[in-house]
Amino acid sequence: MPFDRSIKIAPSILSADFANFGQEIQAIEAQGADWVHVDVMDGHFVPNLTFGPPAVKAFRPHVKTVMDVHLMIAPVDPYIQAYADAGADILTAHVEAGPHTHRTLQAIRAAGMKAGVALNPGTPAESVEHLLDLADLVCVMTVNPGFGGQKFIDMTDKVRRLRQMIGDRPVHIEIDGGVDPQTAPLVAAAGADVLVAGSAVFKGGSVTNPDIYGENIRAVRAAAEAA
Ligand code: DX5
Ligand code: ZN
Repeated sequence: MPFDRSIKIAPSILSADFANFGQEIQAIEAQGADWVHVDVMDGHFVPNLTFGPPAVKAFRPHVKTVMDVHLMIAPVDPYIQAYADAGADILTAHVEAGPHTHRTLQAIRAAGMKAGVALNPGTPAESVEHLLDLADLVCVMTVNPGFGGQKFIDMTDKVRRLRQMIGDRPVHIEIDGGVDPQTAPLVAAAGADVLVAGSAVFKGGSVTNPDIYGENIRAVRAAAEAA
């Protein structure tokens, strides 16, 4: 996975047809997705429940790009090896998920994955300042995690501060929640390079009408690149 700061669109399969993940993943990749974003929720850290390691393992052969797994679970550490075995390329844990994020990021890298750290909207940029040498990605939540289709919360100040803190380190800034062609330019201008989008990519399309996914992906990318 070579590092660069070009805009990458990561559709969240939280907005896909849950009875048809394999074809949905193939469709978004054929339509220009750069990464595939996989939202794992435990009904405890967040008030919603999605899927666990066996499902993520079943997605793996369909993902030809990058499988970006976002854990909205607590605790994280007991499950790191299971997500490595499931084939995650990037494993992101929330800084709010436990007291030892430093250890968690070390364990994710030791298991052979890229390590991400996510921040809820109420969590300041400074909470990850001393973790940046252990992280490959910082995920800035622009909604309170748990559900797709929520309204974007403006975190551009936080993104700008993180971009400064990161400096020359090869650390991606990912934005997750409410990203669409209207909000993408705000975060791209502030320094984000990975844009997760669920409803904005999947709306109006289907595996039998996948061109819409392509139009939606191009609309978010063009808006971000123009910023
Ligand atoms: C929210 C998830 C997001 C979500 C984004 O808890 O982490 O990845 O699916 O969905 P949209 O783009 O619809 O806000
Ligand atoms: Zn997510």
